[in-house]
Amino acid sequence: MPNWNALKSLNHHSLAELFESDSDRVSKMTIEIAGLRIDMSKTHLADEQLSAFQAIAKEMDLLGKREALLAGAVINPTEERSALHIAERGLGNEQAVAEAKVLQGRMKALIEAIDAGAMGDVEHILHVGIGGSALGPKLLMDALGREDAKYDIAIVSNVDGAAMAEAIKDFDPQKTLLAVASKTFTTTETLMNAQSAMDWMTEGGVSDALGRVIALTANPEKALEFGIDESRILPFNENVGGRYSLWCSIGFPAAIGLGWDAYTEILRGAAAMDAHFTNSDIIDNAPVLAAFADLYYTQVKGAQTRAIFAYDERLRLLPDYLQQLEMESNGKSVTSKGEPLDYVSSPITWGGVGTDAQHAVFQLLHQGTHLIPAEFIASKTPGHDFAPIHHETLLTHCFAQGAALMAGRDNADKARAYQGNRPSVTILVDDVTPASLGALIAYYEHRVFVNAVLLAINPFDQYGVELGKEIAKKISNEGPSGFDPSTSALMKAAFD
Ligand code: F6P
Repeated sequence: MPNWNALKSLNHHSLAELFESDSDRVSKMTIEIAGLRIDMSKTHLADEQLSAFQAIAKEMDLLGKREALLAGAVINPTEERSALHIAERGLGNEQAVAEAKVLQGRMKALIEAIDAGAMGDVEHILHVGIGGSALGPKLLMDALGREDAKYDIAIVSNVDGAAMAEAIKDFDPQKTLLAVASKTFTTTETLMNAQSAMDWMTEGGVSDALGRVIALTANPEKALEFGIDESRILPFNENVGGRYSLWCSIGFPAAIGLGWDAYTEILRGAAAMDAHFTNSDIIDNAPVLAAFADLYYTQVKGAQTRAIFAYDERLRLLPDYLQQLEMESNGKSVTSKGEPLDYVSSPITWGGVGTDAQHAVFQLLHQGTHLIPAEFIASKTPGHDFAPIHHETLLTHCFAQGAALMAGRDNADKARAYQGNRPSVTILVDDVTPASLGALIAYYEHRVFVNAVLLAINPFDQYGVELGKEIAKKISNEGPSGFDPSTSALMKAAFD
């Protein structure tokens, strides 16, 4: 386990002191890569902290683990798996890269066939999946498919039928293709939504609803058992984790909706970030430095949460996406060898959209008692054609928040005083494009990985979600008895 004591015992300078003592701080702490400008200068990382983190990285064999990730070695020990999302982008383990290419080729061929009318008149794609089988495609389509997606695409995750009702309300069942996305092909919510969607298609006059279903899965046998024809099953490698699966067939809605070229641009953007992460020295490496800042605030300063604000409507789903990526990966209590941690693991990821969030939650960021490292993501180029003043105002507000958090302002009336010295990172992208979004997502993936390595945990399993699933099954199989009195009473109140 890492030893944080050396870090804790260092001198800690205020942000103002750090800027005063180094006129070059902005350029030293800003990394420009793959259309992203990542400015970490408003964090408290100084030379001393960076050296201490480098020592911890060495102690925790970050470079060795990075090599193992890339090589496709087993780095998910509890499931005895590798983690092959980088191979989907064309880097690393040769065999995995070759297999990914074949499977992507299969997806491309099916998309070309659909585009050419092989599955009849298709106007709408209904994608059902949950967690990693929905959040990635949702983010991609919301960010990149607002104007000229080739098909109407709806992504339904919640088992609440209201979600399905909303999604299909303008769809014609006879012109709808159903994509069932599930790595395991066993997830209750997804299979139930798939069945309801097929029932809706049948009621709407489709004679062979199963014939309009495509499966996106790492468990093709289960999809076959479900009744889906082999030719419409798009498999992916089970060593690609669910929350890393938008790079393979789970990304189907983006690949068909945005077009194949755009989809490959997403992969290309991610590959540029992969190359940066795998080739750069620790000290020039954006995901590594960002992880150092994350760990500085959690391990040294006791931060319990971190907040992400998208100052671009196109990226409004990024905080949701990152919640799963970060909290499902690093929300653990034991090391990868099963020993209890004696320090905190992942902070709670939350966030929202600027400028909306400014008028809702920023009060606490500026004056509350919690330390909350904030992250702002904005684009130089607007995603609309309204007068430029809209975008200028948006960016001005974004930059003003980081400046205000750092500067603070004293006031004799303490209710009007701002402590300041509050950290933030600002990521400015040239534009929200397939390539920059791919790079941005890959940046976060690697940052999560570095956090995990330095925390000595396994980011690639998610056993914490299993117990709730088991109890839900037990309740539906065995009814309201045998549970704690509160749970039994709730079930009686709801179902009797
Ligand atoms: O319950 C959590 C989880 O397993 C996630 O890790 C995953 O992304 C999601 O459920 C959906 O799983 P599947 O793709 O197997 O349906």
